[in-house]
Amino acid sequence: MNSLQQSLILSFFLVVFLTAPVSAADSAAGEQKAEPCANCHGQKGNSSNAQWPNLAAQQSTYLVNQLKAFKTGERINVMMNQMSTSMSNEDINNLAAYFSSQKPTKTSGGDPELIKVGKSKASMCLGCHGATAQGNGQFPRLAGQHPEYLEQQLKAFKGGSRKSGTMQAITATLTEADFKALAAYFGSL
Ligand code: HEC
Ligand code: HEC
Repeated sequence: MNSLQQSLILSFFLVVFLTAPVSAADSAAGEQKAEPCANCHGQKGNSSNAQWPNLAAQQSTYLVNQLKAFKTGERINVMMNQMSTSMSNEDINNLAAYFSSQKPTKTSGGDPELIKVGKSKASMCLGCHGATAQGNGQFPRLAGQHPEYLEQQLKAFKGGSRKSGTMQAITATLTEADFKALAAYFGSL
């Protein structure tokens, strides 16, 4: 091998090395940062209190978007605005990688009549939230989420205290009774 070949090979490896992602999301690093989250969101993101949403198996893109929205104050919640102030983008990516890879545990049974009504209205949601409401990228998983939490978010979109052009338009066409039924159905999945 002559020195030209050697330097070509060397520069090839340098290019590969330098263009590799500097910080791919690291679930193990996320787990380290996730300790304080368990106080509210439960062990491995499975929360036993309906005020605090499950994070286990939530879509990582959605988690990143929400943590950034809390950090900038675009999404308002005193606890989460405080929790996210000191998070770097790397922390956010790692936390999202950790929680999105945890297994969900079933949370709610719910009133069968209400669940039936919710199911009859749910088809308009599945195009974005996924056929089994498992979510997809920016569209959050709704399956198995606490119904009280889901209902509260639907009211917040409708009232405008939580911003999302899409969800604000959808909830404008629905009533509080619809929210209750839809939340019961998605929570039961
Ligand atoms: C003191 C309690 C508390 C702690 C600790 C806490 N959270 Fe939260 N978190 C909440 C509450 C309450 C909400 C619901 C906010 C709302 O109603 O909009 C929430 C919502 C979230 C959401 C949005 C979920 C969704 O489905 O939209 C994410 C993501 C989140 N928290 C991540 C974290 C992470 C990561 C940590 C740890 C670094 C953490 N939280 C620590 C109380 C807490
Ligand atoms: C056109 C796409 C679309 C449709 C259809 C749609 N959603 Fe959404 N939904 C979104 C997006 C995008 C978000 C995330 C908003 C954000 O980033 O804050 C969201 C968020 C939500 C949340 C908040 C979840 C959480 O963890 O905080 C709930 C609850 C929800 N949607 C319920 C529904 C229900 C119920 C329907 C049907 C009546 C529905 N959505 C239809 C796009 C959609």
